[in-house]
Amino acid sequence: SWSADRGTEIIESLSHVEGGVIVILHAMQEAFGYVPEPAIPMIALARNLSRAEVHGVFTFYHDFRHEPAGKHVLKICRAEACQAAGGDALAARAEAKLGVKFGNTTADQRVTLEPIYCLGLCATAPSAMLDGRLVGRLDEKRIDALVAEAQR
Ligand code: FES
Repeated sequence: SWSADRGTEIIESLSHVEGGVIVILHAMQEAFGYVPEPAIPMIALARNLSRAEVHGVFTFYHDFRHEPAGKHVLKICRAEACQAAGGDALAARAEAKLGVKFGNTTADQRVTLEPIYCLGLCATAPSAMLDGRLVGRLDEKRIDALVAEAQR
């Protein structure tokens, strides 16, 4: 869980990394599983930036979580090739099955549903990733199986 001391340590350990806001945010997420809100002003202070600037970077990249993730993380590709292959309907289906919108975690903390923008698997679109495992050629049956697997 979040501790300001650990946060300070992370920032200091990366003080030599140039333009390191993204690097620091990644390190925070690695350490805590998400980027805790109090980390934002700390990073801003260390890098001589405004809070708004750091917050802008934080929200621009979809990789950063605002809250701890659930036990499993299901990422569904929302980029063009997957959309063209019917990915939107499958994404909506996953939201309905899980009862959460993208960017959220189920109430039982089991599954976090996140968008991702191209997994490099466009040839076998629509694509998704469950806990780091890539899955292509999704259809209704396969997305249902993936959601069920995530809920286990
Ligand atoms: Fe979905 Fe490339 S657009 S994998």
